[in-house]
Amino acid sequence: MWVAYAVVFFGTLVKRRISHIYVANWFFGAFILTVAILHLVNSAAIPVTFWKSYSVYAGVQGAMVQWWYGHNAVGFFLTAGFLGMMYYFVPKQAERPVYSYRLSVVHFWALIFTYMWAGPHHLHYTALPDWAQSIGMVFSLILLAPSWGGMINGVMTLSGAWYKLRTDPILKFLIVSLSFYGMSTFEGPVMSIKTVNSLSHYTDWTIGHVHSGALGWVAFISVGSLYYMIPRLFGKTEMYSVRLITVHFWIATIGVVLYIAAMWIAGVMQGLMWRAVNSDGTLTYTFVESVKATFPFYLIRLVGGILFLSGMLVMAYNVWKTIVGAKPYDAPVTAPVAAQA
Ligand code: HEM
Ligand code: HEM
Repeated sequence: MWVAYAVVFFGTLVKRRISHIYVANWFFGAFILTVAILHLVNSAAIPVTFWKSYSVYAGVQGAMVQWWYGHNAVGFFLTAGFLGMMYYFVPKQAERPVYSYRLSVVHFWALIFTYMWAGPHHLHYTALPDWAQSIGMVFSLILLAPSWGGMINGVMTLSGAWYKLRTDPILKFLIVSLSFYGMSTFEGPVMSIKTVNSLSHYTDWTIGHVHSGALGWVAFISVGSLYYMIPRLFGKTEMYSVRLITVHFWIATIGVVLYIAAMWIAGVMQGLMWRAVNSDGTLTYTFVESVKATFPFYLIRLVGGILFLSGMLVMAYNVWKTIVGAKPYDAPVTAPVAAQA
């Protein structure tokens, strides 16, 4: 599937009629190429029999390669492709040129270089050599800069068109997704600091971080992009109901905020409970007490998840009505001038 995707994408680039490759396509290209390389390197194995093989990496090297894979999956599977969407759909929906094209190019190279080194922050306080953990931490801190450079570039694309945010819920989805991107890429570097990680690791704080990225950033930018594309795909002027997009936006936003806020509180609470000791050195809390204390926050997450899901059902209804509805799309005239004459 991935090879077919690569062939279609790079084949299209080869057949292009203008020499410039817009920055969004650089991100898509890096996304396709890197995910393939991650998969190949991480899966390298020596066959023993027809049915059995061993990974070429032993022990701690195996752990390191897997988190090189894992963190770059975050950086390229859950980020680079979506940044490509950001660079295409935000300017389109805002009807403004991207804020700084030069920044977008710096953003691209800085991001793909820095992500490659941050993987060890997943292996703090393990058998991985200390210096490797520190490199992971330092590169994670540096990663804040390209991440925020990209986020600011996306948000500032609205310069001179801020008023559109008031009335355009698609733009709301796109811009709020960038806020969540900024938030999760601020939180990530903080969590990569070893002393912070000694509290956050194994707790639901990590899960909150995951979903401020995965739901707030990845899902929101995808939803915004889909709302942009769907009417065009089915030859309609606009979505069936702009009001329902607004409803979706607010339900989804409240859902995500409930999810991640609940996990932050639960996570910090778990971390503090697990490390609390009495004056005689025994643990203050049993593990099951921390699970019990977490229960209300899981209920809040459930409500957040149900809200998010409801928003998607509202979207499904809106999409269905758009497809079967009658509003035709006024396609721009694309025929060559000579042919028109
Ligand atoms: C500057 C960017 C980022 C940095 C430095 C960063 C850093 C971190 C750190 C330190 C952890 C906790 C590791 C642990 O204690 O086990 C983590 C976990 C995680 N992050 Fe991020 N993060 C960043 C951005 C993102 C984004 C944007 C996403 C999603 C779109 C994301 C997805 C995840 C996931 C899925 C995990 C959990 C991995 C697991 O299953 O253990 N991160 N990140
Ligand atoms: C309504 C939407 C969602 C809900 C309610 C939800 C819920 C959950 C739950 C309950 C877990 C297990 C957490 C644990 O181990 O304690 C989880 C893990 C995870 N989810 Fe979601 N999720 C949602 C959407 C998404 C989306 C859209 C993505 C990706 C784009 C995603 C990526 C992940 C990842 C990577 C993990 C593993 C995190 C880790 O173990 O460190 N989730 N999710």
